[in-house]
Amino acid sequence: MNAATDTAAAPTAPRTGPPLLEARGLHASYGAVEALHGIDFHVNKGETIVFLGANGAGKTTMLRSICRLVSTKGELLFDGESVVGKSATAVIRKGIATVPQGRGTLTDLSVEDNLRAGAYLRKDRGAIGAEIERWYEVFPRLGQRRRISAGSLSGGEQQMLAVSRALMSAPRLLLLDEPSLGLAPLIVEQVYAVLADVQKQGQDLAIVLVEQNANIALELASRAYVLEAGQIAVEGTATELNDNEAVRRAYLGY
Ligand SMILES: Nc1ncnc2c1ncn2[C@@H]1O[C@H](COP(=O)(O)OP(=O)(O)OP(=O)(O)O)[C@@H](O)[C@H]1O
Ligand SMILES: [Mg+2]
Repeated sequence: MNAATDTAAAPTAPRTGPPLLEARGLHASYGAVEALHGIDFHVNKGETIVFLGANGAGKTTMLRSICRLVSTKGELLFDGESVVGKSATAVIRKGIATVPQGRGTLTDLSVEDNLRAGAYLRKDRGAIGAEIERWYEVFPRLGQRRRISAGSLSGGEQQMLAVSRALMSAPRLLLLDEPSLGLAPLIVEQVYAVLADVQKQGQDLAIVLVEQNANIALELASRAYVLEAGQIAVEGTATELNDNEAVRRAYLGY
């Protein structure tokens, strides 16, 4: 079903040149089990897209394909270059940062060491201290807990830390796997407000978001792909998906 794409062209994020990331006929497998069955999608520079879908639809596998943690077939281009066959480290070096499902903080390290670890590949070492301070202003709770181990933070604080840690690497593409999962609505709003701010500061950062919380994700993303059993069931602009009652009822749950 491609109901959303069949409707009139709605505004999307401005396109400046070729996509930052583009997949054509992407398949991903865990051993003999194929989880993605030929996906086409793209993200433009500075754009935010979201993959929506139920449990097991293949959302996390989508992100693992991009950061090279699962084996894939088909085309996957970052900045015009194939990343198929590249290592996870090589992809990080190219400017792709990930906030995995379940946060991905280094639980034994302090909050501050987590932020420093996020910046380990950066060459502008002098800017790092000031940037850490800036994150403490954005999330004062992290500043108050800078010497405490990340493992003793609350779920919301860990999500804030995971997002700031990923952004400390000054990425060109940020991958976020269900940042709202298990968080109180107020904390979800706070995390999304920060993402919206980061997006507005307009440093050309593109975001690939994975969410089951379609409502909040479609406020941040300009376009969405709905995954169903490893295939794209629906795609379109956030407005198109929100305005399509059948899509909303079948896939978005509101
Ligand atoms: N390590 C693995 N080994 C084998 N199969 C896996 C592995 N990880 C995921 N799968 C399978 O791949 C499919 C897609 O899983 P994936 O984790 O990408 O779904 P998801 O959309 O992220 O789900 P959720 O919303 O529950 O996180 C599922 O059928 C799952 O069982
Ligand atoms: Mg998942």
